Amino acid sequence: MKDKNIIITGCTSGIGKKLALELDLMNANLILIARDEHKLKNMCESMKNKKKHIRIILNLEDVESIAFNCEALPRRIDGFVHAAGVESVLPINNITYKRFDKIMRLHLYSFMEITKKIVSSKRKGNAFNTSVVLLSSVAANNGGIGQTMYSASKAALEATIKTLSKELRSKKIRLNAIRPGLVDTEMTERWMKRIGISSKTELNDLQLSGVAKVEEITSLIRFLLSDNSKHIVATCIPIDGGGFVGKMG
Ligand SMILES: NC(=O)c1ccc[n+]([C@@H]2O[C@H](COP(=O)([O-])OP(=O)(O)OC[C@H]3O[C@@H](n4cnc5c(N)ncnc54)[C@H](OP(=O)(O)O)[C@@H]3O)[C@@H](O)[C@H]2O)c1
Repeated sequence: MKDKNIIITGCTSGIGKKLALELDLMNANLILIARDEHKLKNMCESMKNKKKHIRIILNLEDVESIAFNCEALPRRIDGFVHAAGVESVLPINNITYKRFDKIMRLHLYSFMEITKKIVSSKRKGNAFNTSVVLLSSVAANNGGIGQTMYSASKAALEATIKTLSKELRSKKIRLNAIRPGLVDTEMTERWMKRIGISSKTELNDLQLSGVAKVEEITSLIRFLLSDNSKHIVATCIPIDGGGFVGKMG
């Protein structure tokens, strides 16, 4: 990862944050996209190479401003991890176009805008490979009750992988997604409250191998970013500890 230019969204919490801290230790050059300047600054304080990382403050729901705000991206991008995301548990009567649009903007449209910037700055003759890793979810094909918007937005995100991998092959841009189950992050804590799970023991019982630690997810992402995974293309890898044990509705 040394000196590779890697974009990370969702880098101020959970999976994205852990990944950013790990890649910093591996001497990658990071382009950190976050909506909360204060949180990003605090996180960067603990980094070994904080001075060399680029910080972009951006609410990814504001899709129209992404192209402008990403002007500072280096021309060479070796990796892009789209980890920004938000959970959603709502019954159908509470689903509105506005709420649906917000989650689609964050999960799908922002990813497309950033990818467009990467593509437009890369020439066909460029020798370096670019690996794009998307954070999907088991919910993309088997969401629980109330996860309709979340599931649909992740499924739409996954659907881009095959088409874009074909289209961008000539530019050596490779796309894959991962599908985590339950991971020990703030998102999962909020989700537990929403659906009424009160303890970590109860949470662990929901997944065959228990809840995953963030580092168990980031090690797969780092592998997918590296050229060691060059034969893994246009796919979606489940990392869900064997799946749910039937209590998920
Ligand atoms: N945790 C799980 O069990 C699990 C399972 C399957 C898939 N995933 C997926 O994995 C990814 C990471 O999840 P996580 O558990 O690490 O979540 P998390 O701890 O809640 O972190 C989410 C990140 O996304 C950022 N974000 C949210 N809305 C944003 C916006 N409008 N603009 C810019 N950034 C925004 C957050 O910024 P702030 O810090 O400012 O809030 C935060 O950095 C998500 O895409 C999620 O859907 C998670």
